[in-house]
Amino acid sequence: MGVFHCPFGCPYYEDEGCIDCGLCNATTEEEMVEASKKVRAYLKANAIQGRPIQKIAVCGKGGTGKSTIVTLMAKALAGLNYSVLALDTDESNPGLYRSLGFEKTPKPLTALMNRFSYREQPEEDTYWIMHPEITTADIPPQFIPSQNGIKFMMVGKIEDPFQGCACSISDVTRSFVLRLQLMENEILLIDTEAGIESFGRGVERSVDLVLSVVEPSFEAMALAEKIVFMAEGMGINRAGAILNKVPSQDIKEKMVRELQKRNVQTLGTVYFDQEVQEAGFEGRPPVNSKAGKEVEGITQLLINIVQQTTGNK
Ligand SMILES: Nc1ncnc2c1ncn2[C@@H]1O[C@H](COP(=O)(O)OP(=O)(O)OP(=O)(O)O)[C@@H](O)[C@H]1O
Ligand code: SF4
Ligand SMILES: [Mg+2]
Repeated sequence: MGVFHCPFGCPYYEDEGCIDCGLCNATTEEEMVEASKKVRAYLKANAIQGRPIQKIAVCGKGGTGKSTIVTLMAKALAGLNYSVLALDTDESNPGLYRSLGFEKTPKPLTALMNRFSYREQPEEDTYWIMHPEITTADIPPQFIPSQNGIKFMMVGKIEDPFQGCACSISDVTRSFVLRLQLMENEILLIDTEAGIESFGRGVERSVDLVLSVVEPSFEAMALAEKIVFMAEGMGINRAGAILNKVPSQDIKEKMVRELQKRNVQTLGTVYFDQEVQEAGFEGRPPVNSKAGKEVEGITQLLINIVQQTTGNK
């Protein structure tokens, strides 16, 4: 087979989990396209229906406001008495902990990655990450500080030149999100890296809802279309856009129409907000912002949809 990345993680053809898509044996472009269609159809057909929304990935083009929306949504959910876990999976930008109001960063998950290296005995606190099912209670406090109903974790950052590519960080993220078992009132909010590389690496594989943050630009809208397409192809049947930094009602309406043409449903709008911009400049949480109120409205709407579709809390 040669070096090949099976979308289902099978090391060998016809291994357990193989769906016989033929991707690993495809030699022509036509065969590859056919195999990719089979993968997409399989994932769509096997999507888990009616699952409550507990794992939410916030995605989008660089700088559109993903981290801002995660910050404001985490606060809105905490205000509704949900226990929120905000997970920073961005390998570059360091600031999410600050905008959430934490004073310092927690121990990153990547600190666990050298557990099979030179040490004879793995450190005591590395066993929890190997469990097939991980609850937030299993996670040692140095990885998961908590305040005001919000827990915070980070996967890790690229810190050194020649550290290598971020694939291993994505593997840790994907495996952690997949194994995380949430209690009924817990919600995971994932702040993803800009663009769609995380989709290519399957980080969103086990999420229930993909929110694509879209600013008023052609590129951001085009990327939202791609994100929704990718989410569907992963078997995630709940995906939509949150418009952000919108300057006027007129632009909002144009964006909604443009996104509709691209099969992207708009789930809410956040207007350009001076306080959010200043908070971003100063590296602090936004306080009493209009955007915060708008995100509260969007969050309540999402919760209502969840209640209607699942009969949950
Ligand atoms: N509604 C808004 N009004 C005004 N400024 C905003 C708004 N939303 C975000 N910003 C500002 O835009 C900048 C980018 O926001 P943010 O860091 O949340 O984007 P991002 O998508 O997470 O970026 P990256 O792709 O780099 O991770 C920040 O300075 C933030 O303060
Ligand atoms: S046929 Fe498809 S699912 Fe099976 S090992 Fe090859 S790529 Fe993976
Ligand atoms: Mg960000």
